[in-house]
Amino acid sequence: MPLKPNLIPARVRGIAMALDTNYGHRPDTMMRWFISAVMELWGFKPWDRIPDDARAKITTAIGEYDAALQRYPWADLLGDVYQALASQGARQSLGQFFTPDHVCRLISQMNYKTIPANRKELFRVSDPACGGGAMLLAFCNEVLERQGPEALQGVGVYACDLDAYCARMCAVQLLANCFSQQVELGEIVVLRGNSLSDERKEVIVHATSPTREPRQEPRYLELAA
Ligand SMILES: C[S@@+](CC[C@H](N)C(=O)[O-])C[C@H]1O[C@@H](n2cnc3c(N)ncnc32)[C@H](O)[C@@H]1O
Repeated sequence: MPLKPNLIPARVRGIAMALDTNYGHRPDTMMRWFISAVMELWGFKPWDRIPDDARAKITTAIGEYDAALQRYPWADLLGDVYQALASQGARQSLGQFFTPDHVCRLISQMNYKTIPANRKELFRVSDPACGGGAMLLAFCNEVLERQGPEALQGVGVYACDLDAYCARMCAVQLLANCFSQQVELGEIVVLRGNSLSDERKEVIVHATSPTREPRQEPRYLELAA
């Protein structure tokens, strides 16, 4: 069943339509290749091999994502894409629902505590069931709006999700916003695994701001190792 453009949020319509499975591949597979291609662009190990016949579509989706990032910084764009593709009949493999951005922003505003300028340790925020990272993205946006990019450098974000797509979407969105807004987070750690158990987690991304002194690795990585 082809995607119905009028049912897709306008801000991600271009990305979702580029990944439309009317073209022949499953929606979850297209999403997987899209995430893999974005991470590969940044030098991460590819998640999956993209067949030649899908490359043009994936490249178009990346261009659309780049444009959407400029217009809607720190929004859960990939969460919207994921939900749009899930409505296409792939609920079993893409069956998650995420908190809308305006609700995440309200929560960040209501709970905000000013980050002291002279803080030595990172100010750590965590979402152990991160989905696409909507809550963490909204928090970063709030830090930038209230205290600016220097304060964001003092923030460490720690995310985990059971779902391989969600953990990667969260990692992509945190990194993509840092790149496109030209700001740095002190540290980004995104894991895939069960937050309720002490089973080993897969490290999807562990990135540290180059302008911060090297620190001891966080406990999250001990769990993942
Ligand atoms: C309703 S979504 C919310 C995602 C995100 N926090 C948000 O507000 O948009 C719940 C997420 O929790 C994840 N999840 C559920 N149980 C989990 C567990 N035990 N460990 C890690 N993640 C879990 C699911 O895969 C899903 O992505």
